[in-house]
Amino acid sequence: MSITENESQEMLGRSELNDIEAILSITNTDVEAIQHIVKDNADAIFTWDYSLSRPALRKLYEKAKVGQWNATTDLPWETVVDEEKQVSMDQAALSSGLTANHYEGTVMAKWGDKEWSAYGIEQRRWSLSQFMHGEQGALICTAKIVETVPWYDAKLYASTQVVDEARHVEVFARYLDEKLGGSYQINAHLRMLLDDIVNDSRWDMTYLGMQIMVEGLALAAFGNMQQMTTEPLLKKLLRYVMSDEARHVAFGVLSLQEVYKDMSDAEIKERQEFAYEASVRMRDRFMSQEVWERMGVNPRDVVPLILRDPTREIFQQMLFAKIVPNCKKLGLLDRNDSWLRRRYEEMGVIQFENAEDTGEEYVKYELGETLADVQH
Ligand SMILES: [Fe+2]
Ligand SMILES: [Fe+2]
Repeated sequence: MSITENESQEMLGRSELNDIEAILSITNTDVEAIQHIVKDNADAIFTWDYSLSRPALRKLYEKAKVGQWNATTDLPWETVVDEEKQVSMDQAALSSGLTANHYEGTVMAKWGDKEWSAYGIEQRRWSLSQFMHGEQGALICTAKIVETVPWYDAKLYASTQVVDEARHVEVFARYLDEKLGGSYQINAHLRMLLDDIVNDSRWDMTYLGMQIMVEGLALAAFGNMQQMTTEPLLKKLLRYVMSDEARHVAFGVLSLQEVYKDMSDAEIKERQEFAYEASVRMRDRFMSQEVWERMGVNPRDVVPLILRDPTREIFQQMLFAKIVPNCKKLGLLDRNDSWLRRRYEEMGVIQFENAEDTGEEYVKYELGETLADVQH
């Protein structure tokens, strides 16, 4: 059964999933601000139980200690990046690869190579900028988990993730600054999602929003770009980040499995709704409205077409390749009469449900492994 207009209004702030006006009306109004303050409503919890109670988390902690790398010395920062040449070589890797002839009747139909190339560069800058802002979100969320999770083994693990996320912010910020000539502001849909995650007082919601949703999407999106790009620095940078990111998603799956199995249907329903809302926000941010504005195109003219662009559709589905099997493993897909399954069917992403979940798969991402048998 579809959700009602009222339910949609309550969860998404609009009655119709694909209401373009409503999607585009969410923009950043304070683009010059350098600070953004969010209440995190959290209790810091000490535990006096220092025993090893959760071996799977402790194993992850051991993996994290030996998986550390140094962004300054392990990546080839001396690589010269010719943005224009690289972007044209990587067209397929652009985070929103488009079908050019799908845009007849819009300004884009008249674009030549020069405009498409400029678009490609802006799109890449925008994508990596959103990755960078998302990484800061992860840094903040994981620091919060160190305080709020009541389990000793989880506090130990989360502390390693804080260092990992600092390194991820560092590499994306440096790449944007040194190789791409600057960054974009955070997208308003992404910011809204990060605000919701940080704002929630329940510690398991931090995990669900960050480790399962945001990082699940990041793992798939990084994998896609990593596979496509021929730029050696970016390729290695993404490969290294992914080796950490897979552990982070596994941390979410392994922790929430234990929490969710004892939850009531009503409690699980709230988690399902939160997961759905997060999925829609992440999908909406990939309309990359700021890029269109910078290219002099009215997003209202192209976003309806983007939603039906066949190349985009494949890309958008791929973003959910990790989220859906992980939600299934957690029981979120099928509790409450398969509520979340129905939503993912409507979004066209349910086909990933039987892919390997990251709770098991993360070891395949370790540095030194080839990513050949990992699905992106
Ligand atoms: Fe990260
Ligand atoms: Fe992460």
